[in-house]
Amino acid sequence: MGNYALILAAGEGKRMKSATSKVLHKVCGKEMVNHVIDIMRKAGFQEVNVIVGRSKEQVMDKTASRGVSYSVQEEQLGTGHAVLCAKEFLSGKEGTVAIFTGDAPLVREETVREMMDSHERGGYSATLLTSVIEDPTGYGRVQRVGDDVHRIIEHKDCTEEERKLQEINAGMYLFDVQALLSALAKLKNDNAQGEYYLTDVIEIMKMENLKVGATITEFDETRGVNSRAQLAEAEAILRKRINHFHMDNGVTFIDPMSTYIGADVLIGEDTIIYPNNTIEGKTVIGKNVVLHPNNRIEDAILHDEVTVASSVILSSTVGRKTTVGPFAYIRPDSIIGEKVKVGDFVEIKKSTIGNGTKISHLTYIGDAEVGEGVNFGCGTVVVNYDGKSKFKTVVKDHAFIGCNTNLVSPVTVHEGAFTAAGSTITEDVPSEGLGIARAKQVNKEGWVKKRKESGKY
Ligand code: UD1
Ligand code: CA
Repeated sequence: MGNYALILAAGEGKRMKSATSKVLHKVCGKEMVNHVIDIMRKAGFQEVNVIVGRSKEQVMDKTASRGVSYSVQEEQLGTGHAVLCAKEFLSGKEGTVAIFTGDAPLVREETVREMMDSHERGGYSATLLTSVIEDPTGYGRVQRVGDDVHRIIEHKDCTEEERKLQEINAGMYLFDVQALLSALAKLKNDNAQGEYYLTDVIEIMKMENLKVGATITEFDETRGVNSRAQLAEAEAILRKRINHFHMDNGVTFIDPMSTYIGADVLIGEDTIIYPNNTIEGKTVIGKNVVLHPNNRIEDAILHDEVTVASSVILSSTVGRKTTVGPFAYIRPDSIIGEKVKVGDFVEIKKSTIGNGTKISHLTYIGDAEVGEGVNFGCGTVVVNYDGKSKFKTVVKDHAFIGCNTNLVSPVTVHEGAFTAAGSTITEDVPSEGLGIARAKQVNKEGWVKKRKESGKY
């Protein structure tokens, strides 16, 4: 007996009007289908199979990192047909299969666990997740006889009277694998859309006197996303939920409404976040960090007491007590040490920067290894690219790079060395030496006066 999960992601999503598969549209920085996969895993369903069809390469590519298996539905003949396409995955299995749609990212792990409990305790062959809502337009309606779920009727197949039913089917189910397979074999497509509906399985099971249960939860967990407007609604709900989670953990938000944090971000206590911060991916932020307004931070690690203002940090690590910005751009694969100053209009790419180094203004550092206590003067440029290849620059501990230095890679400035302002350094500078590489200044006395007298002025 095992627990398995199937995720429906083969549909087209016409109502999104998009070249991107619907389930790949993002909510709080993460593709909807990946939200669903992650929730299933957290709720205890390790073996996950995703049913793909439309734009299947896209969907497989974006879910590949999650180690799921796939079933292919070549033609989209309905949700029941989609599940039939996973027959190979299900065959020979015994136990419970969760079937969740890839376009409903808001369900909580706790609710899936609740469904599991009820499913097992009740000895049900199927357990649905439902909500009772004011305006159920578009959703399948749950029809009950007495307290028992009797069947699900798709919106398009409802009579006037049935449209008034306010309990909706979330498209999230638990099934006994074998009971599901035998019911699927009996599906027909004699309905308004000419599709094989997974929802019809419920009525088939009831006719065979199998037990069907339902867990009712808030609509904010069961909403599906079929349009861009619903995508924005899902985003707002999840944003609020995520921000509240962090506030409960001791993070200050100056304005939660304008703070955008991804579902997988971790943030330490007493961190303060000002408006217009977007923090996504697998970012981890330490304690007592201050994020001033207007940052974009993705897949980054920020240690305790870091300060960032109006900057972009991507796939990089920033050490304790380092300050970044305003207007800095830290590009992927950079490792910035502790108590570093990355000042205004500084770009760092694929470089390591040692503790206590200062890069105060107007500087580009790419493919470089920079030691501790280095000082970069204003306007330093690491010339790492010759039009074909990238080369490495090394700046050792306590070096002092004068303003407007070009460091033409590959080159090394050794420990404690200086470069003179305005130098284009093409050769290594020895430890404690001074590298000067600029034209010598010539002063011409009385030059202006002579020029005026010549009548050319
Ligand atoms: C479905 C349910 C409806 C429920 C609603 C909840 C059916 C027949 N209806 O309707 O009762 O209230 O979800 O959001 O199941 N898909 C496939 N292959 C297909 C068709 C769809 O993989 O042939 C996938 C889609 O990619 C999507 C999911 O199944 O992720 C649901 O399909 P969608 O067309 O959005 O169904 P709804 O009309 O929303
Ligand atoms: Ca849907």
